[in-house]
Formats: sequence, C-alpha cells, structure tokens
Amino acid sequence: MAELSLPFQSKYLPLKKFHDFYRRSMDEPEEFWAEQARHLDWFKTWDKVLEWKPPFAHWFAGGQLNASYNCVDRHVKTWRKSKVAIYWEGEPGDVRVFSYSTLYTEVNKLAAVLKDCGVGKEDRVALYLPMIPELPIFMLACARIGAIHTVVFSGFSAQALADRANDVGAKLLVTADGGFRRGKVIPLKQIADEALAMCPSVEKTIVVRRVNAPVDMEPARDCWLHDMLAEETPLVTPEPVEANDPLYILYTSGTTGKPKGIVHSTGGYLVHNYAAYQWVFNIKEESVYWCTADVGWVTGHSAIVYAPLAHGAAIVIYEGAPDYPTIDRWWHIIDKYGVTIFYTSPTAVRMLMGYGEQWPQKHDLSSLELLGSVGEPINPEAWLWFYKHIGGERCPIVDTWWQTETGGFMISPAPGIERAPLKPGSATLPLPGINADVVDEAGKPMPSEERGLLVIKKPWPGMLLGIHGTPERYQEAYWSRFPGIFYTGDYAVKDKDGYFWILGRSDEVLKVAGHRIGTAELENAAVSHPQVTEAAVVGKADPIKGDSIVIFARLNDGVSPSPTLKQELAQHMRNIVGAMATPDEIYFVTKLPKTRSGKIMRRILKAVANNVSIGDITTLEDEASVDEVIKSYHELKQTG
Ligand code: WT7
Repeated sequence: MAELSLPFQSKYLPLKKFHDFYRRSMDEPEEFWAEQARHLDWFKTWDKVLEWKPPFAHWFAGGQLNASYNCVDRHVKTWRKSKVAIYWEGEPGDVRVFSYSTLYTEVNKLAAVLKDCGVGKEDRVALYLPMIPELPIFMLACARIGAIHTVVFSGFSAQALADRANDVGAKLLVTADGGFRRGKVIPLKQIADEALAMCPSVEKTIVVRRVNAPVDMEPARDCWLHDMLAEETPLVTPEPVEANDPLYILYTSGTTGKPKGIVHSTGGYLVHNYAAYQWVFNIKEESVYWCTADVGWVTGHSAIVYAPLAHGAAIVIYEGAPDYPTIDRWWHIIDKYGVTIFYTSPTAVRMLMGYGEQWPQKHDLSSLELLGSVGEPINPEAWLWFYKHIGGERCPIVDTWWQTETGGFMISPAPGIERAPLKPGSATLPLPGINADVVDEAGKPMPSEERGLLVIKKPWPGMLLGIHGTPERYQEAYWSRFPGIFYTGDYAVKDKDGYFWILGRSDEVLKVAGHRIGTAELENAAVSHPQVTEAAVVGKADPIKGDSIVIFARLNDGVSPSPTLKQELAQHMRNIVGAMATPDEIYFVTKLPKTRSGKIMRRILKAVANNVSIGDITTLEDEASVDEVIKSYHELKQTG
C-alpha cells in the first residue's frame, strides 16, 4: 500500500483546502448540497433540501426540473449550440457527430415519437438498444416527457429482457434490427420478439434500423423509427417533474435470484452527478471525454449521458469491441478525436495490457490529461501500466468507487478540487458530502489497516429512491444490517492516511469483467436446465476478468455427466441470462457440501475452485462430500 511519488503531484495544492471543503459538507450538508444544486436549472426551487425518513431520502423536495432541459436545452441557448455534444463511431467505422443543436433536434423528434405512441408522464419505456446514438437520445426523450426509462443491456437474453420489462410494467419497447459486435450482428429484434411473447404490458415496439438485417414486424405492434419521424421538427416542451419523480429504473443483481429495479430520482441524482463529475474529472469546456462503458449500466447512465451532457461536455461513444478489427482500436479512437479524459474498466486495462504496449505506442496519445477506472478493484500492476503506457506518466488516474445504488461517484480522487497524492490500487478518499466508513459486524469503525465492511453513514443526493415495487426489500437489502446506515456489500480497508482500499464483494455477488452478477441468479438459471437438480456457483479469481464463473452442478438421478451436457448447460445459461453468464468451468458432482441446516457451503466450493486451503469445515454435515468435491474437481480438471 505504498504511496507513489508521481511527478504531477509536485504542482498540487496542499490538502488542507480540500479537508475544509469536505468538513463543511459534513457539518452543513444541506447548505452544501443546495449550493451544488444551483448549478442546475430549476423550474421551481425546492422547499426543503432533505427529507430523511430512514431509509427513504427525498432531496430537494418540492423542486421542479427536467433532466433533458438540463442536458440539452440550456446549452442551445448559449454558444454551445454549435459545440460538439457527441462524436459517435460505429464498429464498422461509420461516424455520426451531433452538435448540441442537432442533439436538441433529435431529442425533440424522439420525444414527439414517444408521445405519438401514447407514452406520457410516469409511463415506463424499456430500451433494448446497441450502443448507437438513439440510445442516449431516447433516454433524454423519455426524461423530456417525464416518462421513466429502463435500459436493458443489449447483451441480455430474451428472458432477462422480459423479466425486466415485466417488473417495470413497460408500455413501450424500443429496440433495433441488430447491433454490431466483433464484426457479427446481434439479432436484437429477434431476441426482443421472443421476450415480447412474454410481456403483456408492452403495447408498442419501435425498431431502429442499424444493421439492415431483415426482421419480422408485427403490424399491430411494431413500427420502424424512420417511418414515425415527422417531416418537420416538432418541439416538445420539457415536462417539469418533481425532484423525486423517478428519472429511471435500472436493474442490478443482488443476493437473491431476482434482479433489483433500482429507482433513481431526477433532482438529487442530477445534483450529485453534476457536482461529482466536476470534482473527479475536472471537466473543462475544451475536454473531449470518453467513457468506454455500455450505456446499459449505471456507468453509462451517469457517466456517459447525464453528468457529461449536463455539463455541456463533448463526449465520444464507440459502438463495438475494444480490440476489433485490430487490438489498437481504442488507442486509434483516442488519437483520432483528441480524447483528453479516458474512463474505462480494470478488466479492459488488463486485457489490453496483455496485448503489449506496442499497440498504444503506434498512436499519439498526448491529448490525454486524465484517466479513470471503475467497476472493480484495479490491481497496482494494471494501474501502473495504465499510468505509464496510456497516460504517459502525466495523467492522474481517478479510481472511482460507486454502485448502481449510489447513482454517482462516492470515493475517488478528485483532481477538480483536491490534490491528494494517489496510491495505485486505492480509490483514495470519500468525495465531499459522502460519509463513508469501514465497520465491523456490529457497525463499529474498524481500526485502520483492518478489513471491514464498507458503509455510508449519511444520505447523499444520488442515492436510490428504492427498489421498484418492493419497499421491504429495499429496507432489507441495504438498511437492516446496520440501522440508519447504508450497507454497500463491499469489503474495504482504510489505511493509516484514511485512504480507502476496496477489496471486493462481501456478499454472494460476482464481478465478472466488471459486470455484477449474483450467484443466486446464476444458480436459478442453472437449475432451470431440465437435467440439473441442484447447483452452486462460486467466483474464481481471474487475472483479467476479476471473477470467473464456476458451477458445481448435481444432475438428476440416472443422468450421466458428459461433455455435451456441459456445453448444453453453458448454452442454457447464456439463453437464460446472457453471454456474460457463460460459465468458465462446470463440475458435475453427486453431492454438494452443506451445513447441518442444509445451506450450501460456498466457502468450500470457492476454496476448491480457487485451489486454496479449505480451512475450518467442522460445520459440515457430511465431510465425505468435501473429499468428493475435491476428487471430482481434480478428475474433471484433468478431463476438462
Ligand atoms: C460494485 C458496484 C459504479 C459503476 C459500475 C459498477 C465494484 C465499483 C469500484 C472501484 C473497486 C469497485 C464494487 C461495487 N466497484 N467501482 N473503483 N474499485 N470496486 O456498478 O454494477 O452496481 O457494481 O462494483 O464491488 O459494490 P455496479
């Protein structure tokens, strides 16, 4: 946990100013956040900065605003009208550039289309789209009319899409004829059709033409977007919404088999994201910002769409795979657009590091000023490679810790306001307004250098409003462990300087290439295979992806294990959840190790999968099953 002496630190200001700013945010949180809120445009000022009835926080209660207005309209009233908002590049190399003025036109057009489909305030719209400009534009169009969007990552299966669309009760689904990924076409409309057969609430479907693939259109339900666009640009007045009206619902995995629909507000969410984006990325008028995440995750919602556009920033969006058609595609894009801020994931850094520095060296990356990392812990080796070979030893790296639930950045270096030294692998310090701590099982603060649970002790503006449809589950999942304190599900340690080191999940959630997947969700998918009786999923440390997925499955009596069955099960998991659920290893066992009360002992399976010592197994009902698992593990490892 050594501190790195980095050259740019010599020009940094002393930390004191930052500490004063932070202290003020803790001592006078309402005044502090009200000041931040004034950077946005409000139709009506709030009556109260915070109404806190644990676990429900209402920020800026009574205030009225519109997210689309803040991200688009207010910029077209200034010189930014002709500033680039989005540089978009498709995987095949096609390019579309949107100024704020064009973005304004497009958002209005799509808002009019939504209205023509009968979508109004508080209606839910499911967006199942590839990384094309229509995705952020439809999000803004929903926000414009007060509709609530739920983006479903385009890598999800028909079943996953249907589950999410049904849970929100979506009225409309927007999809595309397909999307490009590694030169192949993903048949999104076809997958959507399968999902729609299970979605009674969806009345209409809008289809965007992207790949020119033939698709089936259901005349009473499906419309091509291009057929719906009006000749003349209609102007759609942005609907003033209350600060606590939901902006969107986004699903994420937890410890049960059912994904949680995280509901985010409009006011608090935007205030948090606007402020934190400035602090962390030091965004300037001339910045060219590229976040490589998919818009389908919270990173895409907050750090591609809402925060950067609320700032009037110029952003880059790239549709495809990082290493396609050549492994230097990303470095090429940085060079081509003069990217100044580059925000990506540790998995991507580790993968590209594996290809070697000769690839970035082919390109001029001197435009870069700042790098960012998100989604999983970044190991010091990857951090240093990123720092050296991409940042040219010139760019600070902001390791941003946050979650779908937190809405915005929580713990991160903040070069926009402070000059704390960086330590490779540490997310450094909580941002202003964020009261984070590391505690023991009883909620008592951990001594420094000791591992504990990461918690947030005070409400913050970007925090979730709740879990869609289930207030009890919201209370239970986040607020029951420590009353009045938000439980994050992560392990962390604070070092003697108060720096936070995030050590990964403390619950049954995996981080596979930064994607968050609950083991229970994977187990449900596995046992839905007709030949699988019981399954346990554990994570195995993977040098690139963080976690890889290992399944121990017990088959129905009389069914013999076979390589074909393994393939079938892997394919089944992809069909049920999506490609990111593809297991890396499958072991067929005749018994799973369980406690006396019948709970599967994941600790043992995890130890077996990771080839480490098993530790204390005294709570085991049947110790023989451990040997059996180990035996089958070794046997199956050999046979593959
Ligand atoms: C979980 C949240 C928030 C954007 C993407 C992920 C892990 C996130 C970091 C980081 C170590 C991190 C945590 C967290 N995580 N950022 N900088 N260092 N771990 O959102 O899918 O809701 O996942 O991602 O485990 O709890 P998410």
